[in-house]
Amino acid sequence: MAKKVSTKKASKKKLWGGRFKVATDKLVEELNASISFDSRLYAHDIRGSIAHAAVLKKAGVLTEAERKKIVSGLNKVEREIGAGTVALTSDLEDIHMAVESRLTELIGPLGGKLHTGRSRNDQVALDIRLYLKDEIYQVVGLLHELRCTLVEVAEENIDTVMPGYTHLQRAQPILMAHHLLAYFEMFGRDVDRLLDCLERVDIMPLGSGALAGSPYNLDRKLAAKLLGFSAITENSLDGVGSRDFTLEFLSVASIIMANVSRLAEELILWSSQEFGFIELSDAFTTGSSIMPQKKNPDIAELARGKTGRVYGNLVALLTTMKALPLAYNKDMQEDKEPLFDSIDTVKGILKVFSPMLRSMRVNTDAMERAAARGFLNATDAADYLVERGLPFREAHGVTGRIVAWCIEKNRTLEEMETKEWQSFSPLFKSDVKKAISISRSLNARKVHGGTARSTVSARLKKIKAGLRGAK
Ligand code: ARG
Repeated sequence: MAKKVSTKKASKKKLWGGRFKVATDKLVEELNASISFDSRLYAHDIRGSIAHAAVLKKAGVLTEAERKKIVSGLNKVEREIGAGTVALTSDLEDIHMAVESRLTELIGPLGGKLHTGRSRNDQVALDIRLYLKDEIYQVVGLLHELRCTLVEVAEENIDTVMPGYTHLQRAQPILMAHHLLAYFEMFGRDVDRLLDCLERVDIMPLGSGALAGSPYNLDRKLAAKLLGFSAITENSLDGVGSRDFTLEFLSVASIIMANVSRLAEELILWSSQEFGFIELSDAFTTGSSIMPQKKNPDIAELARGKTGRVYGNLVALLTTMKALPLAYNKDMQEDKEPLFDSIDTVKGILKVFSPMLRSMRVNTDAMERAAARGFLNATDAADYLVERGLPFREAHGVTGRIVAWCIEKNRTLEEMETKEWQSFSPLFKSDVKKAISISRSLNARKVHGGTARSTVSARLKKIKAGLRGAK
């Protein structure tokens, strides 16, 4: 690796050091610095500075020649930081000062002109928004991929029957495709939430200055245009002092994880020997160091577990922001680590879910066997009576007694003779057997959004037409 350039000489005297007579205590320097984590914003910080230079040129603060020199210097700084050849040490405090300090080393005192009409409060608010915009698109992309995978696996399992559950008790038979498509809908709303949140992230704060607005004639709309923002902030205190857009993203990230954790939990249950509905691929499971027979669903468990830390990040920033007087306060430096951590966590988990789902083996026999035991067709027996004139509540009571009788006799509804049915109600005829078959039960649910095969295939078809449109 190339030798790192140290910007120490330039920073011996702090960029803000004018009014200070005593050097910063070393412990303070360490605690105060955010560079160890905000360095990930370097490219966004430089993009913002390039736009600011154009605005300063328009305001008559910089000549075109100066602007060009600053831009080429900034591009060089970006390449150097990208290559890891600049030492980003805590005496530089944060990424904004590190970039300025390296720029000044490269192009001389002109580097110091770039900060005209701008504060770091401005910069950090801008950088987070730029960064978050990029990341929101990436998370949307990953959710899209996961939704495509769910559709693929649903298509493969359009004929796989499984028990549907409420209270984790077998309730009614459903198609596995129907079950998977429930997640498709949930993750679709997560995408909507992200795009909605994006509207409030996509607002450009530069020009707010430290808090009261910049005294220079800055064309803020030009900055917004150059940086690809849809709007500019309307109030300088709000521009530098608000992080509700970050809170909003962290809330959406928490909901995404809540949804992922439910899928994770089902994969964990389904792959247990007790269920045996699926087998996760060796590539997405791990072994035990002591029990040779074990194949653990660690990745699904981690998805479930990491949900806690993403919720924690939301609560951390909510608590940091609570009761903060306007505008910027140093407390707000604590916004970045929870944000970065939630982004990394959500992306890491979403990335692994698609291949994990694609490579799992579905044990259709086990699912169907489970759907055939547990009186999942009891509602259909009740509906049979309703169709023949009995009020539903009474039909429910009759069928309940039949189920109790079967449990006592260790029988299933399918095994009952017509005579036995009739001993509970004369309304039962020999066609009750057909009426309570699993496939009839399932395919009777043709209502929009139901589990009937025809309804689920129609939904799949519609989704696929839409997904093609989205690509
Ligand atoms: N490192 C700071 C942060 O992350 C940047 C803004 C600091 N502004 C200031 N006036 N100290 O919040």
